[in-house]
This record gives sequence, C-alpha cells and structure tokens, in this order.
Amino acid sequence: MRLIITKSYEELSKLAAENVANLVKVKPHAVLGLPTGSTPIGMYKELISMYRYGILSFRDITTFNLDEYEGLDKSSPNSYYKFMLDNFYDHTDIAKDKTNIPDGKATDIYKTCIDYEEKIKKADGIDLMVLGLGNNGHIGFNEPADHFPGITHRVKLHKETIKANSRFFNSIDEVPKYAITMGIRSIMHCKKIMLLASGKAKAEAIKKALKEPVTAKVPASVLQLHQDLTVIIDEEAASLL
Ligand code: F6R
Repeated sequence: MRLIITKSYEELSKLAAENVANLVKVKPHAVLGLPTGSTPIGMYKELISMYRYGILSFRDITTFNLDEYEGLDKSSPNSYYKFMLDNFYDHTDIAKDKTNIPDGKATDIYKTCIDYEEKIKKADGIDLMVLGLGNNGHIGFNEPADHFPGITHRVKLHKETIKANSRFFNSIDEVPKYAITMGIRSIMHCKKIMLLASGKAKAEAIKKALKEPVTAKVPASVLQLHQDLTVIIDEEAASLL
C-alpha cells in the first residue's frame, strides 16, 4: 500500500488527478472506475482543466461508475448519472457511449447487475478504480455487513448513509433506500485502486480501514489485501493514524 498524506484537499485533488492523467497518457484506451460524492469533485475539476489546457484527452477511455440509486431516472437532479454529466462528462471530450453507470430504473435488477459485470469483463477489466470512503467505512455502496458482497448487486442503504447523503436532497425522505453497487469482488478485481478521503469525519473510518484487522464490518478494510493500492488522504482524514 502506498499512503500519501497531503496538507490540503486541493493537494489531494491534484495528486489524484495526476495519477489518473499519468495512466490515460500512457494508455489512452484505459478503463476507469469512478465514484461520485463530494470527495472526487476536486479531482474532476483538475482533470477538466487538464483537458481544457490540451494536456489530456478522454476521447478513448471507457468508464464504469461504482453505483447508482435505485428508482432515480438518469435525468433526475440527484442521479449519479446527472452528477457525472455535471462534474465531468459535459466538460470533457469523453465519449458518452463509453461511459457506464448501473441503471437505477432497471426493471430486472438481477440482469442489470450480471450485464454490468459482463461489460466490465469484455472491456478487459478496470485499470484504475478511484474510490471515496463512507463515514461508516463503505466503499461504493457496500455497507458494513457480516460478509463481503461479491459482484454488482442491489443493496439496502444504511441509515447513516441515507443521513449523510441527504445533504444533496431537499429532504431526507427523498433519499432512495436502495442502490445498485459494484461488489467487493468487482472492486478487488480492478488492476489498481486509489482510495481518497478528506476531512475529520473520515478519520475514524480511515484508521479502521488501514490499521485494524480486515473485517466486513468495515468494508474498506478489505483494500489492505489489494496488490496495488494507493491511498491519498489529507491531514484531517489521517489525524487518527
Ligand atoms: C459514491 C460512492 C460512495 C462515496 C462515499 C463518500 O459513488 O461510491 O462510496 O464515495 O459515500 O462520499 P463523499 O465523498 O461524499 O464523502
């Protein structure tokens, strides 16, 4: 594991973007795994400015997002698809037909999940998966549990996740109760993983994930077993290490 502690969120975002850019420069057809949430917004901003300065093109990359809320249409202001349009896709030359996000409106969720896994396999796997970290140690929407879920699946969101994510909605009642997420096996199969965390609220989860025994009660702790993990966190998130 490579652990990088930055002075600030801005520095974290720059470093994360540089890691993505270094991969895309040597492998323009790279396959990226991408998160939503507050943490990666700075990284996306940096990547957008690299594109604007002509340093980087995303034309040939393929992306797979980690998760999507169940029941939200792509056009919903709170869908993760809309988040990706607003924070990344619409500001770069990315080919939208090469972007993938689980379909939150799927009628056959089981088939959607299997198809998502098949598509990842067909793309020859994910070269670099970027992850945020839930305050409760979740990655994607893999919530603390008694076992590590395998492949892409439907998940019931934990109360604390619903509460944490309610900041993006008009009220907590609007937050979907279920989501579709890549599983722990899908994540662990990625060739490289970069975990990002910023702020004091993440300090406890970072300590448990990186310094305590691997347990499904802290899903991110499984990342300790990955062969190519880079962790980039700011000083606040690292404050309990
Ligand atoms: C989002 C995702 C989640 C977030 C996590 C942290 O696609 O998979 O695991 O990464 O909830 O969210 P923020 O960055 O908003 O603190």
